[in-house]
Amino acid sequence: MLQLLRKKKFILYLLCIVGIGLFARSTWKLSPFSFHGSGPCACSTCLAEGDLRFRERMTACPQPFLTNNLTVTEETFNWWKRMQSRRPNFTLFKSALESVFDVVPHIPNVTVLEPRPDRCRSCAVVGNSGNLLGSHYGPLIDFHDIVIRINRGPTKGYEADVGTRTTHRVMYPESAVPLDNNTHFMMFPFKRSDFQWLINRLMPGENGKRKAIANKDLVTILNPAFMKYVHETWLLKKGAYPSTGFLTVALSLKICDEVNVFGFGADTDGNWNHYFNIFKDKHFKTGGHPGDFEYGVIEQLHDWKVITFFKGWERR
Ligand code: C5P
Repeated sequence: MLQLLRKKKFILYLLCIVGIGLFARSTWKLSPFSFHGSGPCACSTCLAEGDLRFRERMTACPQPFLTNNLTVTEETFNWWKRMQSRRPNFTLFKSALESVFDVVPHIPNVTVLEPRPDRCRSCAVVGNSGNLLGSHYGPLIDFHDIVIRINRGPTKGYEADVGTRTTHRVMYPESAVPLDNNTHFMMFPFKRSDFQWLINRLMPGENGKRKAIANKDLVTILNPAFMKYVHETWLLKKGAYPSTGFLTVALSLKICDEVNVFGFGADTDGNWNHYFNIFKDKHFKTGGHPGDFEYGVIEQLHDWKVITFFKGWERR
């Protein structure tokens, strides 16, 4: 009888320990990068107390995502429309935005939160560079709380080098792939018709035949003012506009506590290969993006110890 009572007590004790563990994990989001010290976040290093040169540049950073009550100024619009061959007009742009928020009413605010001493949001930003091949970064990338991939960047067939998890994917219409119900879709709009595209692709087709491209509750749209800020403050107006990948690195500095960057950079011949598509016909350059300058800024952030830049297998 006494033995049975002891056994019951022991099981109850075990259940309590497991319960407390689960509670702690969900409440404080313990992660492998966690380090419970006295800093502004629980990571081993926190962006919030990064190099002063970095923090100074962040002071001009606008709200990174569009919301239905955010005004995009005509000045921002005039900068943004330079990226388009068909110049849209401001009134039409504003009405396109309004329509988007009829379909994407819920703007998740979980992505832009102030750091907290009891939480570590470690982020892996994974670009599409061919230098990921042979890197064996996969397990390291998967270790992060947030894994952000860009455009088509696949995992299937490349798991050892790029990992398996994707919590967030950055895309625009021409680069979009269908997402599962749990992946955040960060839409980068480069032209007015992108908003209409988003509306169409979030609505299920007639009779539910076509699946929505992503879970509409997990959609965020990049603020054109953020693109302008990155072009001016980080790229010093070099090139016509920032690359999707560089915008993603800059965005991560706003939404994460700790950032590790993978998959950026050209090959030894200066070609901007993809890990999933090594071109036989070389000479794949970066178009309107200042690729080399962007690479230099990422290196600078690494040197300032703001981020860690994993340069991959093939060095330049
Ligand atoms: O080619 P794509 O735009 O899909 O790649 C995503 C991002 O990865 C690019 O915008 C660029 O910033 C980065 N990239 C890179 N070096 C490469 C290929 C892509 O830095 N060789």
